[in-house]
Amino acid sequence: MTARVIDGKVHAEELVAKVTEGTAKLKQAHGAVPGLAVVLVGSDPASQVYVSSKSKRAAACGFHSVQRDLPEDTSEADLLAEVERLNADPSIHGILVQLPLPRHIDSGKVIQAIAPHKDVDGFHFINVGKLGTGEAETALVPCTPAGSMLLIESALGKDLSGKTAVVVGRSNIVGKPMFNLLLQANATVTIAHSRTADLPALCRTADILVAAIGKPEFIKGDWVKPGATVIDVGINRIDAPEKGEGKTRLVGDVEYSAAAERAGAITPVPGGVGPMTIAMLMANTLRAAEQSVTNA
Ligand code: GUN
Repeated sequence: MTARVIDGKVHAEELVAKVTEGTAKLKQAHGAVPGLAVVLVGSDPASQVYVSSKSKRAAACGFHSVQRDLPEDTSEADLLAEVERLNADPSIHGILVQLPLPRHIDSGKVIQAIAPHKDVDGFHFINVGKLGTGEAETALVPCTPAGSMLLIESALGKDLSGKTAVVVGRSNIVGKPMFNLLLQANATVTIAHSRTADLPALCRTADILVAAIGKPEFIKGDWVKPGATVIDVGINRIDAPEKGEGKTRLVGDVEYSAAAERAGAITPVPGGVGPMTIAMLMANTLRAAEQSVTNA
């Protein structure tokens, strides 16, 4: 079997088109423009790329888009003060502080300082709690798992009753919220991690396999159950001497070619989950803006 490739770019464009339309409607009906503030501390090159693509996407959706670039030596108190300013700013509906933060700043403290209704990352305890207790309707849900879920739905539909899902990776950003979303869709879900015994055998039970561990090509092709839906969340840059000296390329957490021979459907890297994350951030920001109008 050769897997159907799940094209994240196409699904992301569809979602962004819906967001752009929703933004125009909100403006027409209520005179409100969704506002997204993205805060970057320091000059990590990968984070700079992510942040600028988030800001550009926001502007393209018709949002009020604000980017705050703060120096590496910004104090925790100054960052918290910036978050407070954005919390109080009525033109801003979504706040995202790019992670990782420099080591001298307590990320947890900063995340919990963001007003839950503006927490478009879905990392605040209130949003995590709502998702965990099945109140996803009013929660802001983390973008990468929410985007991954849309890709799973595109392959298998919304109801995953009777399906077995294995999520490899237990991070707060991906693994744990992914678990909750799959569970809510009626899948039977297991989270695997670095201490799991016989990971290959567990993966082979998965109708839905989500890889979110951040290790290049860690999940081997023969760990994939024939016909499974494989969602590769990993984005890893590795050396590519075949492309020339000093060249690199992006790979996922899954050994793609071998996995694609067994899977029913699979996301590529790049062009799979990545574009969905940013599209979902736009959807969350529109939602936050719509809710602020409703609750005004
Ligand atoms: N760094 C890597 N992924 C993310 C994300 O989803 N949100 C934020 N804020 N930072 C990240």
